[in-house]
Amino acid sequence: MIRKKLIAGNWKMNKTASDGVTLARDIVEAIGRETSVDIVLCPPFTALESVGAVLEGQSVKLGAQNLHPEKNGAYTGEISAEMLRGLFTSHVIVGHSERRTYFGETDEFINKKVLTSLANQLKPILCVGETLAEREGGSTLAVVQRHVECGLAGVTAEQITAVIIAYEPVWAIGTGKVATTEQAQEVHAYIRDLLTKLYGAPLAQKVRILYGGSMKPANAPELLAQKDIDGGLIGGASLESRSFIDLVKSAVAAGGFPWFSLRAAGMRPAIPWPAGGAFRNPPPLRNRPPDLLPARVPSAGRARWTTPHAGRAVALRRQDRRDRASHRARPFPSAARHR
Ligand code: PGA
Repeated sequence: MIRKKLIAGNWKMNKTASDGVTLARDIVEAIGRETSVDIVLCPPFTALESVGAVLEGQSVKLGAQNLHPEKNGAYTGEISAEMLRGLFTSHVIVGHSERRTYFGETDEFINKKVLTSLANQLKPILCVGETLAEREGGSTLAVVQRHVECGLAGVTAEQITAVIIAYEPVWAIGTGKVATTEQAQEVHAYIRDLLTKLYGAPLAQKVRILYGGSMKPANAPELLAQKDIDGGLIGGASLESRSFIDLVKSAVAAGGFPWFSLRAAGMRPAIPWPAGGAFRNPPPLRNRPPDLLPARVPSAGRARWTTPHAGRAVALRRQDRRDRASHRARPFPSAARHR
């Protein structure tokens, strides 16, 4: 099963709006047209608008770090799904261990956030993972099972492929201690099994499971080569453009369709596209929530590549088109405003 790799940068409580613009510009200049992997930047709320403006017209998507499950009301300091959508946010991190630990978020509350995100066409990145004490006490898989099952309660088969799960062992977050590839793959495979029990194998195979916890350019290639590791949720290494770009390159090398690597290697497609045109990247995906995309999604098709990955590229493009079509079918109330 082809799953497009995803690299998401979680900036946490770092970067002012203007610092965020500088970082986003550096990233966009280097990889803003990259389409073989999905790239998401999650700045703090205060930088969403300015960073979103930098991402306009690029393939890099905008994510938030949190949301409140209610539509609106007396929730001082909170942000609703509609507010995020108004800034063209497409992803949102939910249930990060720092929110569970420092802000007392429970599985039930996190589940409400997941459901609210999906109802508003935001893709939730649901974080799950055990503490050091839980790992040492032998309850890693039980904790992960609880986080996954409670977090996904009420998520329908139709919605599950919009969910991204991030396995983040708490003891590896920001500590420099990374899980071994075996430890990570074991839990990722376990999560895939849980999803299979809940939704059946075909859907479970489509859900992306990211690893998070001290992922760096040095350890990423090995982690990303694992069968069930579909990308990374990156904290520290996302705060600096060089390391984030290197992580994206690792994801491309590990299984993205090689637009980027071909270009880097100075290669050309066998048949340039559009017919007769010079080599260039496929049309950029817009930094728009999918249902705000124009009715006709430009096709990146037709190119033939002198690489064994050509079949994979076609499948990825088809999957992209299917994702977008299913999102367009569910209009978002504020869409009219942005037409
Ligand atoms: P880290 O953070 O990469 O700094 O360990 C990951 C995360 O908390 O999402």
